[in-house]
Amino acid sequence: MKKIEEITLFYEISQALNEHLELKKSLYKVLDILSSSMSMVRGTVSLLNPLRNEISIEVAHSLSPGTIERVKYKLGEGITGRVIQSGKAVAIPKISEEPLFLNRTAARKQTKHIEELSFICVPIKKGNQVIGALSVDRPYDEAYSLKDGQKLLSVVATMIAQHVINLETIRMEKDQLREENKRLRSELENKYRITSIVGNSNKMREVFQMISQVCMSNATVLIRGESGTGKELVANSVHYNSQRAKGPFVKVNCAAIPVNLIESELFGHEKGSFTGAIKQKLGKFELAHKGTLFLDEIGSVGLDVQANLLRVLQEKEFERVGGQKTIKVDVRIIAATNKNLEQAVEDGSFRGDLYYRLNVFPIYMPPLRERKTDILLLADYFLEKYNKENNKDIKRFSTPAIDMLMGYHWPGNVRELENCIERSVLMCDGGVIHSYHLPPTLQTGTESDTLPEQSLDEAVAHLEREMLIDALKNTRGNVTAAAQILKTTVRKFAYKTKRYGLHYSHYR
Ligand SMILES: Nc1ncnc2c1ncn2[C@@H]1O[C@H](COP(=O)(O)OP(=O)(O)OP(=O)(O)O)[C@@H](O)[C@H]1O
Ligand SMILES: [Mg+2]
Repeated sequence: MKKIEEITLFYEISQALNEHLELKKSLYKVLDILSSSMSMVRGTVSLLNPLRNEISIEVAHSLSPGTIERVKYKLGEGITGRVIQSGKAVAIPKISEEPLFLNRTAARKQTKHIEELSFICVPIKKGNQVIGALSVDRPYDEAYSLKDGQKLLSVVATMIAQHVINLETIRMEKDQLREENKRLRSELENKYRITSIVGNSNKMREVFQMISQVCMSNATVLIRGESGTGKELVANSVHYNSQRAKGPFVKVNCAAIPVNLIESELFGHEKGSFTGAIKQKLGKFELAHKGTLFLDEIGSVGLDVQANLLRVLQEKEFERVGGQKTIKVDVRIIAATNKNLEQAVEDGSFRGDLYYRLNVFPIYMPPLRERKTDILLLADYFLEKYNKENNKDIKRFSTPAIDMLMGYHWPGNVRELENCIERSVLMCDGGVIHSYHLPPTLQTGTESDTLPEQSLDEAVAHLEREMLIDALKNTRGNVTAAAQILKTTVRKFAYKTKRYGLHYSHYR
């Protein structure tokens, strides 16, 4: 074979290998090329299963799928088995004279008497390890150098091996990504089960009940409530407890997107539909197909976008900006707002028809000050959260700190409480969060309706009493140990506890 022909052959083979990500398809193509340009017929690629030490045919020219499935060799068995075991190529001039030839596939029966065949089999190696073999038949030809044929096939085998390695790498990376995806997904699901919404008050129980009533349906949900009350948490929870949980959950913060971009953000745009639209872009509605679209801060969208939203909610279809094609989607809508929509409808800044479309199933999130029984539950929950985050082991809140948390009116709701606990955890070095660890807004009492203005003496007395109680709690009423903690004498300690009306026996 001429050099140039060889190079052309290798080029074609490398192209065939790169054409498909599916090993079988590429290998068939390679065998096609070998048979058409080299009269190498009945090419076969066998691969070794290292776990079972068994060789099976991966692809074979002119064999039925049934035969391919059926025929297995043991390592060392027959010529293919020997090539794979030894890693050395074999070339047989005339197979009729070769006793080792098993002809297990019976492919050559009919042709046996018509023409004599030569047989070449070369190992496919991954480094030093033999992973399979490539073999071909060739009509016997005295003038043909089997050595050359063997060399050429060895090169092809190397190319195949490289391809197998590439595919394995791709497959492994894919598996890794798939695993990662699965892990993140279940992490998300856990994060947003209803259980991650803390609350035991009657008002929150109502919310939980509403969530479980509505989540399995496809009904539009409108979540109302002041800032920081947990509207987004509820939206997550509705999605992850719905039949769409495995589908996408797409969030749009309508207030955060510039007015001129919101249409394209929601509905997507075609290339060139406006300056800056250099590529086609899918809108959030399309991205949320088969899942849930969360329209946060719905109260802040303008009237023109409202008209388009209304159409999607009614018809479940829309066009991309600058596009002709009507796109149909299957999306569940959850919207949230802290605005007074009824007032906005009255003012004319919010369309009444859109309001009714959205207000199918409203869920109202009560402000924290109206569910005081949740405050401590949430405080403990956040204490644990930020303990973990900061590697701390703070056990509890002191009684005065609890009083302060309970007395405050929480204008920023749960978000403010969460920030407050995070800060206290950072400030606190001991095992207990005291009132002086809480932020100044709670300290001054100006924001609070229960904390009276205090004189210095009152404040000191307050703190002193708190420290005495803590020491007694920590020692389970052991006065000697409690005095030691506070670095004072038993006599002084007893005197002070008496002054504050405390008794060690209460702490036993
Ligand atoms: N019941 C709750 N249990 C646990 N965490 C909560 C709860 N409610 C709110 N949070 C937490 O408080 C923070 C604020 O909640 P979220 O973002 O859901 O409020 P929002 O109502 O969407 O506020 P905004 O109107 O300002 O967007 C979040 O970190 C959330 O995890
Ligand atoms: Mg929000």
